[in-house]
Amino acid sequence: MKRLVILLSGRGSNFRAILEATERSRLPVQVAAVISNRPDAPGLALARDCGIPAHLIDHTDFPTREAFDQALGDAIDQAAPDLVALAGFMRILTADFCRRFAGRLVNIHPSLLPAFKGMNTHQEALEAGVRVHGCTVHTVTADLDHGPIIAQAVVPVHAGDSAETLSARVLAMEHRLYPMAIAAILSGRLRLINQHWVDQSRGTFDHEFSPCLVDPSLLPPTH
Ligand code: GRF
Repeated sequence: MKRLVILLSGRGSNFRAILEATERSRLPVQVAAVISNRPDAPGLALARDCGIPAHLIDHTDFPTREAFDQALGDAIDQAAPDLVALAGFMRILTADFCRRFAGRLVNIHPSLLPAFKGMNTHQEALEAGVRVHGCTVHTVTADLDHGPIIAQAVVPVHAGDSAETLSARVLAMEHRLYPMAIAAILSGRLRLINQHWVDQSRGTFDHEFSPCLVDPSLLPPTH
């Protein structure tokens, strides 16, 4: 079975969604370890409660970003993962770290990249007046929120939305999209070729994967 390491800093709802997908066999992987840079991350407590190896590597214990990334990389290597998934991991990673795990490092970002990189994506989407918003699973590179796009999910922006209501709508899609994208990579269905993720399937895989999920309310009526 393929091995997955999850990096998180907070609530861990994407980690929970990934775990639930593994339990329902939609995602045939073993979560080999969860690593947090914050001692109080609820996601770390969830991992412990579920009996998953849970490690704290507190970035405040390290003198430099490089020293932290070295320790983080060593802890990841201990778990021998096929893929490392960032799920609300709130640290900028060094170029050396990204090179060390090149091709094995993915993230979920709460916007339709390349729009709204960085923080406060839902508020920025509302201020820009966009009609659709969403989330993106992408490869992590040294260039923040710039790596090759793996999959996206689209939700409507409703009149009267606040950053909170929009965020909740996007998060529900994140929980569907991330396990699907991870399954597609680890099955070999998706391959990174010339900096683009390409679907290799040609009907040879029996699980469903769509690189773009769309909230059903966005689709026109069929009659
Ligand atoms: C998600 O919105 C994700 O897109 C972003 O950080 C948030 C993490 O949420 N990268 P959670 O900790 O998985 O609940």
